[in-house]
Amino acid sequence: MVSFLKTSVLVTLLAAITNGSPVVKRHDKYIVHELERDDSSLDKRTETESQWFSDTGARWFTKLKLGSAKDPVRVTVDTGSYRLNVPVPGATCLKTTCAPDAVFHPENSSTYKNLTEESDSTYSGPATKSFKSTDDVFFDDGRKIPGFEFDASFSSSGDIGVFGVGNAEDANSNYVFATKHAGLTNRAGYSIYLGPEKNQGNLLLGGIDKAKYKGELAIFDAEQNINATSIITADGKAYPFTKPVGFDTGNAWIGLEASIVDGIYEGLGIRGEGYFECDRVLNTTDEFTFNLGPINITVPYSSFFYRLHQGDYGCAGHIYKVADDAGAQGIGLPFLREVYYVKDLENKRIGIAPIKHTDESNIVDFWF
Ligand SMILES: *[C@@H]1O[C@H](CO)[C@@H](O)[C@H](O)[C@H]1NC(C)=O
Ligand SMILES: *[C@@H]1O[C@H](CO)[C@@H](O)[C@H](O)[C@H]1NC(C)=O
Ligand SMILES: *[C@@H]1O[C@H](CO)[C@@H](O)[C@H](O)[C@H]1NC(C)=O
Ligand SMILES: *[C@@H]1O[C@H](CO)[C@@H](O)[C@H](O)[C@H]1NC(C)=O
Ligand SMILES: *[C@@H]1O[C@H](CO)[C@@H](O)[C@H](O)[C@H]1NC(C)=O
Repeated sequence: MVSFLKTSVLVTLLAAITNGSPVVKRHDKYIVHELERDDSSLDKRTETESQWFSDTGARWFTKLKLGSAKDPVRVTVDTGSYRLNVPVPGATCLKTTCAPDAVFHPENSSTYKNLTEESDSTYSGPATKSFKSTDDVFFDDGRKIPGFEFDASFSSSGDIGVFGVGNAEDANSNYVFATKHAGLTNRAGYSIYLGPEKNQGNLLLGGIDKAKYKGELAIFDAEQNINATSIITADGKAYPFTKPVGFDTGNAWIGLEASIVDGIYEGLGIRGEGYFECDRVLNTTDEFTFNLGPINITVPYSSFFYRLHQGDYGCAGHIYKVADDAGAQGIGLPFLREVYYVKDLENKRIGIAPIKHTDESNIVDFWF
């Protein structure tokens, strides 16, 4: 009896420590969008990729609640573009019927306004054709962004709509500025955490989760591209970047200068037909080091390569060559999965630190 009591007291205390401990409320003006990964077709990619990703999978989705009916609409989160577009009933997505959970129903919303002005967005390939529109965006707790401007598309070049959170200062149509304008955040900025599991990512607007990275956040004075130093292979060979480096969650690949790609691929023993021995690139603990100047980020070789399904061709890479006249190199998901990524659109700063996978969170306001 006595010992039972002791045990139960102890259990209660432990429970209090793990669940009920008073959390100091540092900051509550933020919005969290849970992200879910779809990597069903990750390996199908062809090398023509730049910004669009309809054939890749490896994307992160979230659901937005649009209009007075709080219609849940599934969209791809994209840091490389800056408007929201969603297909409406009757629209085509990749020339076929759009997935039902990706369609917004303006007819169900009493607050929907069609601005009747055409708005076309081009990612890569054909344009997504739309009419500018406005409606309220709702959050689970009932808060909302009133009259947010987005594109209601009737012909989408992707399989679902795109939720662009990239640069643009228009407070009506840029989601990040609109959340601040609506009084929901103190800063037009966001953080991205991409967890190891399918449903473990989040997009945090107006906050930074200090539990989710190691060490200090390296902060760059940059709107989009940074001047990174070099990429270093496991055997210590450094390839200096001669062009700026940009980051994009909508890019499932890594685009680098041709001379860097050639050097890396040669070092990894690329075969005549363009493939690699899987033991060399997948079954290895070797890592690339991205020397960004104030911080080094390591990424396992295995994040950049995948096994070809048919036959015994070996492995292919998720690295492509950017055109010589491209302004910047495009750093996509294989890198972004390894970092906690912070973007302050208002003060034009980017924060990067090595990711720490944890369910804990310690969300603070932007301090820089
Ligand atoms: C929206 O409208 C469609 C048809 O127009 C209907 O099938 C659907 O149930 C409606 N949804 C809501 C949430 O009212
Ligand atoms: C918006 O208005 C245009 C022009 O009148 C029309 O063609 C389009 O179908 C409308 N879209 C929606 C979603 O109501
Ligand atoms: C990168 O370097 C160029 C050339 O030195 C400079 O003009 C630019 O401001 C730098 N960009 C950043 C983000 O530091
Ligand atoms: C990985 O490499 C080890 C030895 O280097 C080998 O024993 C193992 O079979 C390899 N695994 C695969 C899946 O190829
Ligand atoms: C990054 O790694 C390189 C190569 O090992 C090293 O020279 C440099 O000092 C490192 N930078 C930081 C900030 O640790």
